Amino acid sequence: MIHFGGDYNPEQWPEKVWTADVELMRRAGVNLVTVGVFAWARLQPAPDEFDFGWLDRVLGLLGDGGIGVCLATPTASPPPWFTRRHPDAMPVTADGVRLTHGSRDTYCVNAPAYRTACARITGELAARYARHDAVRLWHVHNEYGTTCYCDHCAAAFRSWLADRYGDLAGLNDAWSTGFWSQRYGDWAEVLPPRATQYLGNPAHLLDYRRFVSDAMLAHYLSQRSILRASDAPVTTNFVLGGWVPVDHARWASEVDLVAIDDYPSSVGGHLAERAFAADRARGWARAAGHDDGRWLLMEHAPGAVRDAASGVVRPLDPGQARAAALTYLDRGAVGVMYFQWRQSRGGAEQWHPAIVPHQGPDTPIFAEISALGAEVARREPVTVTAAAALIHDEQTMWAWQAPGLDYEAICRRWHVAIGGIVDVVPPSVPLDGYRLVVAPVLYLLPAAGHRALRDYVRGGGTLVLTFASGLVDDCCRATPGALDDLIGARVVRHVPLLPGETVPIDGLDAVGRGWIDDLEPAGATVLLRAADGRPVLLEHRYGAGVVRYLATDLDDPRPGLPTDSGRPGR
Ligand code: GLA
Repeated sequence: MIHFGGDYNPEQWPEKVWTADVELMRRAGVNLVTVGVFAWARLQPAPDEFDFGWLDRVLGLLGDGGIGVCLATPTASPPPWFTRRHPDAMPVTADGVRLTHGSRDTYCVNAPAYRTACARITGELAARYARHDAVRLWHVHNEYGTTCYCDHCAAAFRSWLADRYGDLAGLNDAWSTGFWSQRYGDWAEVLPPRATQYLGNPAHLLDYRRFVSDAMLAHYLSQRSILRASDAPVTTNFVLGGWVPVDHARWASEVDLVAIDDYPSSVGGHLAERAFAADRARGWARAAGHDDGRWLLMEHAPGAVRDAASGVVRPLDPGQARAAALTYLDRGAVGVMYFQWRQSRGGAEQWHPAIVPHQGPDTPIFAEISALGAEVARREPVTVTAAAALIHDEQTMWAWQAPGLDYEAICRRWHVAIGGIVDVVPPSVPLDGYRLVVAPVLYLLPAAGHRALRDYVRGGGTLVLTFASGLVDDCCRATPGALDDLIGARVVRHVPLLPGETVPIDGLDAVGRGWIDDLEPAGATVLLRAADGRPVLLEHRYGAGVVRYLATDLDDPRPGLPTDSGRPGR
């Protein structure tokens, strides 16, 4: 069975609407709804007062209607009474501004009062609903992503660093604090990377992102341990994007089912984006050891898109929602869910699309989503195998700081260039099953990553690397020449290009942009050169395999791929 449905926020509506909702859900083929994501104030209206009667009735109605529930813990949106009592649990920005109540996601995961309050409401929910028939899945929190720089975080950061580096000497070495008089002599001197005068220390910045990810993971794990009172699987919804301080590769093994939210960023280019998101979700599932690569699309927009470039919100064209859903399902999704079921009358997202819009069910959106519900009811989840993998590394994404060269965009272009079903995997995934591995701009490469790439090629794999790869280690320290033996060339210097500057390629109707490495081949064959004679594409035999190295960025990187990489079976 495919899960089909979305976020249901009934606390916005009088009870008579709930009965109509269940009836409409049945008409639309909905079989799973996420309930309670933002219901904390309704569930716990005051510090020592709980109200579960309404949720009992909602779950009862849904259960009686044959609709399963993905029950959320409401901790992404603490209620106003909490905020008023515990101002120290509100997040502080890097500029030192303490945020106040008024939106959502306003919390500090390291604040003791917030952690205690989260454990309490989660415990109440688990005690009441752990064995409820309608509950099929637990949804912890929502889209982890708030970064805070407060004093609670400073203390927790120090202890995280002490675990990682042992002592201050280890920290000073890892952060290269010999430069700019940054040597620390006392743990109390170490702070989150708050607003400062000029450039920050890259190792400090990167470690803070890692720390924030781990602090949020601890928050998730504390709720998961409480919810283990139930047999239903536990997950949280991953949100994609460079700003997200979550190391998904590390988190994936802690969720029982990888679940992602994926929203179109524009009206055009829609399906390639969906395919990339789906292939990433499957990559995380594989990273977690789920060989079937199955995952859940927890949220998607049912009918409209905020065009990233223009900011205009407009409906999807007829058929686009269906095409997106089928793209996800063909790439291993076990369900397609939307935000949200019924469009809010008021509140921050009152114009966000919904399956039941303000105008009611007699509308194109409801008709299209209902037809899709009937269609997916005839399908079963598929297990997808891919011959090719694209390495997408969140640590590199966080550490990479080259103006004008967008890591995410480069990976997306390679994804399109490889074509077909591609596992988009973190570097920790075993590579030996793939005929082709493409690792664009793998800027940060720790020792384990170096070993994995070499083992893969030695064993007969075909690896494509690009410019700006292997430039730094785990601590953002330069590692010159680290890939030279593998690519069969010496990278003599890196030349980031200016905006508009291009490198014409000899014999190709294409130009390099953004960056070019100057290479001295030492064993590799030159397959392509720039018009000025500089090598831009190398091929090198290494062990039983082969490595290609593309020294510049192409709008369409297909020339970098071996012609026989096609889409052979794994
Ligand atoms: C996120 C959230 C939802 C909602 C949607 C709107 O994915 O999880 O609560 O705000 O965005 O697109």
